[in-house]
Amino acid sequence: MKIISANYIYTPNGFVSNKAVAFTDTIKEIDTFEVLKNKYPDAHIIKTAANSVLFPGFINTHVHLEFSANKTSLKYGSFMPWLDSVIEHREDIVSESNNAVMLDQCHAMLRSGISTFGAISSFGNELEVCEKVSQRVVFFNELIGSNAQYADMLYGDFMERVNASMSCEASSLITPAIAIHAAYSVHPIILQKAINIAKTHTLPLSTHFLESQAEREWLENAEGAFKGFFKKYFNTQTPVTNIKEFMYAFDTYPTHFTHCVQATKEELSYLSQKGHSIAHCPRSNRYLGVGRLPLETVKELDIPYSVATDGLSSNDSLNMFDELRAALMLHHQAPIDLLANSLIRSITSDAADILGLNCGRIAVGKLADFAVVTLSETPKREEEIALWTILHTKEVSEVYINGEKVI
Ligand code: BEZ
Ligand code: FE2
Repeated sequence: MKIISANYIYTPNGFVSNKAVAFTDTIKEIDTFEVLKNKYPDAHIIKTAANSVLFPGFINTHVHLEFSANKTSLKYGSFMPWLDSVIEHREDIVSESNNAVMLDQCHAMLRSGISTFGAISSFGNELEVCEKVSQRVVFFNELIGSNAQYADMLYGDFMERVNASMSCEASSLITPAIAIHAAYSVHPIILQKAINIAKTHTLPLSTHFLESQAEREWLENAEGAFKGFFKKYFNTQTPVTNIKEFMYAFDTYPTHFTHCVQATKEELSYLSQKGHSIAHCPRSNRYLGVGRLPLETVKELDIPYSVATDGLSSNDSLNMFDELRAALMLHHQAPIDLLANSLIRSITSDAADILGLNCGRIAVGKLADFAVVTLSETPKREEEIALWTILHTKEVSEVYINGEKVI
């Protein structure tokens, strides 16, 4: 048994002060340090530094490790030139993103308190690294391929990757999962087959959705910047699906829809009705010039959302605090304390619920994953702890996963 105490503990009932947590690999009890010490006299005692806040480990639901080597190769500013640059540089970036480079980025995430991440994997290259890292990994095998001619072959390759991630050792903390690349890039027949696999094995399911205006124009009118792209690379002028048909394909299985920046209120409302959730990637959206997710509408419609970094293919770091600070700036109209609290919730309890994991909350019976944030002085008002955490923290001071100290 271990007992950790901190000035503040972030619980489902808000920040509580002068409490401690007794834990093994799961959380056993929350009470005052004195009570827990008396009850478990042999426990290993962990005293955090002054002005520390104990959080559940943070969860980054959406990252592409395979593009970790990108720095200046990809063109930022607007979606289509970026996608063109991905096609041009993909092979080089993926081969430069070797295990050492990806491992480095996993450590960067860990230092920012990320104890769980959702790895969107196009090729399966990062499975080995994900088996080695100390973090929990939801391993999203991604399906891509709009061309019916190659669909069976691409589906076969996808299923091999799904099976490989399903046969990982339990000690690796890997949860196999399924990602659909996007409406424009996945043929409806293999889309349905992949969704059925997720349902059959109850795997987390995610998809990119309405990331850009170009995607909307293509799916709605077969027009816009995607027209030239599909003519050039696939010799086709017709989208394989439309927005409604694609959305309806997920009807009976709650799915994590990434971006949704160009979704209408009606579409967001539909996602809400069907129990779906949204992965919000503020810096990625800004860097690719696709617009701002109306977080106020997401909240009004009561759609659960997570804040995620996306990959270094559309970002400058995988640090969660960098992402949260960007979210504070992007949603400049929102009351800052409320937004800060909502953002912390989005990377803890809400993200855990979205991915179906038993972490993300400091509550009895939950997995003992913690991130300790040490502030430079005592917060004066409880409602501002989330804000000062986001504004003043570059890296956390300690991380525990499954009850073990990893930082
Ligand atoms: C496709 O298969 O349609 C596709 C693949 C990569 C990017 C965009 C589309
Ligand atoms: Fe992504």
